[in-house]
Amino acid sequence: MKFAKSILCIGAGYVGGPTMAVIAAKCPECKVTVVDINEDRIRGWNSDKLPIYEPGLDAIVKQCRGKNLFFSTDIPQGIRDSEIIFVSVNTPTKTFGEGAGMASDVQYLERTARDILAHSRSSKIVIEKSTIPVKTAQAMENIFLSSPRSGVHFEVLSNPEFLAEGTAIRDLENPDRVLIGSRETPTGITARQTLVDIYAQWVPRERIITSNIWSSELSKLVANAFLAQRVSSINAVSALCEKTQADVREISRAIGADSRIGAKFLNAGIGFGGSCFKKDILNLVYLCRSYGLEEVANYWESVVKINEYQLGRFFSKMLKAMLGTMSGKRICLYGFAFKADTGDTRESPAKYLTHKLLAENAMVTISDPQANDNAKIDLAGYGEAIQYIADPLDAARDADALVVMTDWDIYRKIDYAQVFQKMRKPAFIFDGRNILDHKKCFELGFNVFPIGQQELTHLKYE
Ligand code: UDX
Ligand code: ADP
Repeated sequence: MKFAKSILCIGAGYVGGPTMAVIAAKCPECKVTVVDINEDRIRGWNSDKLPIYEPGLDAIVKQCRGKNLFFSTDIPQGIRDSEIIFVSVNTPTKTFGEGAGMASDVQYLERTARDILAHSRSSKIVIEKSTIPVKTAQAMENIFLSSPRSGVHFEVLSNPEFLAEGTAIRDLENPDRVLIGSRETPTGITARQTLVDIYAQWVPRERIITSNIWSSELSKLVANAFLAQRVSSINAVSALCEKTQADVREISRAIGADSRIGAKFLNAGIGFGGSCFKKDILNLVYLCRSYGLEEVANYWESVVKINEYQLGRFFSKMLKAMLGTMSGKRICLYGFAFKADTGDTRESPAKYLTHKLLAENAMVTISDPQANDNAKIDLAGYGEAIQYIADPLDAARDADALVVMTDWDIYRKIDYAQVFQKMRKPAFIFDGRNILDHKKCFELGFNVFPIGQQELTHLKYE
């Protein structure tokens, strides 16, 4: 079949896979190919068990794969055959050299730009999809200019992805906005229009925002910083609630009803995780510092510090509540993913808590409906100290404490009377997501420790 346009995506991860599946579904006249250097990942995308868990993704991939959606490891061929290339490779926090622990590691991005340059025989629109430091487009353009080929022009656009894991398909099908940044040159504006026309096939035109390329690059970092800041703000308030008998859930409801504030991202918890928030804020902090904006850098850095404080505070509360020792006690984690509806464990608070618990010589049971496999990879090497049991009732057997780490809906629905029967006494619940019925659990006999609310306990503490 002859397609009107050929679109390539380099990087078949959490962003590239779902985004391209939705573009393929919405634009049947386009051929969409997703390539990756990781053969296992591509094999996964071509199989019945996709490499990532995302509600609604299986159905869309099944509908389009082999028709106008293809997954391949042949990167050179993919580049040659496409006129539009999305780049969604990973840009993790740098672990070495200048800016280690803060700056983005853009080596995969540079390698991709070099690949595109090496294999292109015709002009391309190259779209930055991965989250990247502001001014990355300049770096890509410099690579493209390093060995010019006559008649081949590369136009770099920025089109950051705002999807959240767990709701990726919904977010892609019905986005609040699509942002497209370009150079304000004639070729830049033409390329931008090409991309606008693709999205306009299913996104109302007024939700497609165009801007200069630097605003687009920076907006992505700022959007994540603002969202994370809301979580850190409510988490900071939760600490004060625990001292003052105010209830953080009541505060969220009260302030969220103010239309200027809004109700979203006001759930206090054990702290944010995921691949974006910490990485993007640290990247923003690094950028501010490198432009000499020390105060601005410190301001944003405090969002990450409150996040670390919240988890440390949660752990200290657990230790104190469990009479100062966890040695030999079994702690069962309900959830290991960084949030509900994903198997992703990147920057999951559960990972950090598990390290803390093991350092106290506790035994840990991990129970997550989707993330147990990733947890095993993350915690490889701990051997007998950790057991993995997906069924939450079985996982609770002989545990001294349950810790709700992930806001999976199933944890709201379990029969906690049965859970209580299976556990050692005194039995503790630490609700790191404030999703359980605390009063009911207390009445069943549990000692209950929520976030930002008074504890409900049968024990006496001084
Ligand atoms: C985020 C952004 O939402 C998305 O737009 C961007 O493209 C990538 O980063 P994601 O990391 O998938 O998406 O998850 P998100 O839903 O934003 O949650 C991030 C973390 O904050 C999770 O650990 C979540 O549990 C936590 N969170 C969120 C809270 O603790 N409280 C809240 O009220 C909201
Ligand atoms: P994200 O959450 O941003 O999508 P992932 O780590 O899930 O990040 O996905 C990024 C993907 O990019 C990985 O599957 C990785 O193998 C792929 N990748 C990294 N570098 C290259 C490259 N040079 N060429 C092709 N794919 C790459």
